[in-house]
This record gives sequence, C-alpha cells and structure tokens, in this order.
Amino acid sequence: MNDKLLIYHSEAKLYGEIISKRLPKLEICSTSQPEEAIDFIKKAEIILTWKIPDELLKKARSLKWFASLGAGTEHLIRNPYIPESVTFTKVTVYGEMMAEYVFAYLLYFYRDLPKYFRDQKKKVWEPVRPERLRGKTMGILGLGSIGKEIAKRGKQFGMTVFGMKRIPEAVENVDQVFSSKDLGNMIPLVDTLINTLPLTAETYHLLGDKEIGLMKEGAILFSIGRGKTIDERALTLALKNGKIKAILDVFEEEPLAPESELWNLENVIITPHVSGINIPEEICEEFIRNYERWVRGESLHGLVDRMKGY
Ligand code: OXD
Repeated sequence: MNDKLLIYHSEAKLYGEIISKRLPKLEICSTSQPEEAIDFIKKAEIILTWKIPDELLKKARSLKWFASLGAGTEHLIRNPYIPESVTFTKVTVYGEMMAEYVFAYLLYFYRDLPKYFRDQKKKVWEPVRPERLRGKTMGILGLGSIGKEIAKRGKQFGMTVFGMKRIPEAVENVDQVFSSKDLGNMIPLVDTLINTLPLTAETYHLLGDKEIGLMKEGAILFSIGRGKTIDERALTLALKNGKIKAILDVFEEEPLAPESELWNLENVIITPHVSGINIPEEICEEFIRNYERWVRGESLHGLVDRMKGY
C-alpha cells in the first residue's frame, strides 16, 4: 500500500506538484480547504502543514509523521492531536537564507550604504573609509541550524563569534559558547547581537531592560527568531535613547501595529518576518530527503524535541 500524504497549506498545489514528481508512489491530497481534506486525513500517515484546524487534525487517526512547514513550533508543540507517538519534524533549511539577511544588513551599516545612496542622488563624490566586519565580534543567541549558518559566515568575514546555548558545548565556528546563565557576560563584549531563539517558557522575554542595557554603545541587535523572546517595551525604550541600533524582523505581535513607535525610529530597520521565508523547492527537497529516510527506517532530520519545546 502506498503512503498517504496530506499537504494542507495555501500553496499546497505547488508543494504537491514538486513532491509528486519526485515521489510518484506517494498518494497525495494537496489542499487549503478543510472540506477537501476531511476524508483523506483519516487515512493520511503523513501531514505536511504549517497551521491546520484542530477540528480537522483530530480526525487524523492514521497519523505517523507530522511534518511542519516552518521552523518555529510554539503553536504546535502542545497540540494534543500530535501525540508523542507521532514523529514530529520542523524545517531546518532557513539557516543560509537568514544568514544572508543578517549580512545584508551588517554590510548596509558597516559599509554605510545609506550615505552612498544619498550621495548618488546629489551627485556627490566623497569617499569615506568603511568600518570592517573583520575584527568585530558577534554574539548569536541560539546555535541551532540557523545560528550555525550565521556563525560560519561570521568566521568567513574574519569576525570573532560568540554564541549562547542552553547547554553549552563546543560548536564549530564559534569561539566561545556561553550558557543562558552567562548571557550577561557575553552581551557587553559583542558589536552585534543576533537573536535567533525559538519561543519557549525559558526564552520568553529573555532580553529585557537589564540585558539590553548591557549592550555596547552603537551595537546592532537583530531579532529574527521570535518577537516574544525580547521585551518590546524595554527594546523600544533603549532604541529611543539611541544607544543601540536594531534590525527587527519579528515582533511580539505581528503584523506590527501601525501605532508602534518602532516604525518611526531612525536607528531601526523593520522587515515583515521575511528573514527566512518558504521557498517551496527548498522545503520540498528537505521533505523528500526525509521521506526517503522514513522509508528506509532511518532517523529524520529536524526532529522536534518536545522536552526542549522546539
Ligand atoms: C517559521 C517562521 O518558524 O517563518 O518557519 O518564522
């Protein structure tokens, strides 16, 4: 009997086309409509989705593998219809893309691109020595698949790379790994602090007044994990004081409310949760590789650790 895969997503048809070309034996139902999924879900062994209504999910009686279409799992981790007996995976391919995002903005600041955009408009020819990435120090909060890709590129640019991990252990391309308890020792040392953390009970508001207050004058903070890991009130205050700069891709509430003061601050760049965004070909490639492992009875990539919460 062929395995049955339900793809439930607004772009399900596209995902379905890519996967069925490579895995023609899989029986696939691709839809974004509950009424089209309701019969198929009862016999589906695998579900590929980002968000699915509980009313539908609770009918997934044959479910063996829940493959999330995202990296963050906070909205799924406690779902009773994804019990421990079901294999639960997340996407791990965003690291490269999110590293590109980080370095795009680091270079934007350090090479002072805004000055040259302004100068060109005014036909001004005025060379200025740039700041170098080489010799700068970055601190990465979270050394999972995303943090590791950022660290690798930081090293390639000649930066000193520090990182924070729940349980510290040596990580390739990271010069020193700090525990969350030692975060206060790492923050004052870094020129740029990159927050890739997932949202868990432990990471909620991990960066508040005290931690943000420890940042160096002129340091750059990136928020690309989950907005609720930073106390946005404390962050807004620090940004209004002008001591640090920030590149914010995630927020406590999304979309960011039009009345948020963050929109108008000169030292803030706001992007709409795009540092890592689904590229169907890349996501499907990871799923297909995992499916091949699944068929061979091997352990899958991106397994969610329910104890850790991500
Ligand atoms: C994700 C995200 O978790 O897009 O995949 O933030």
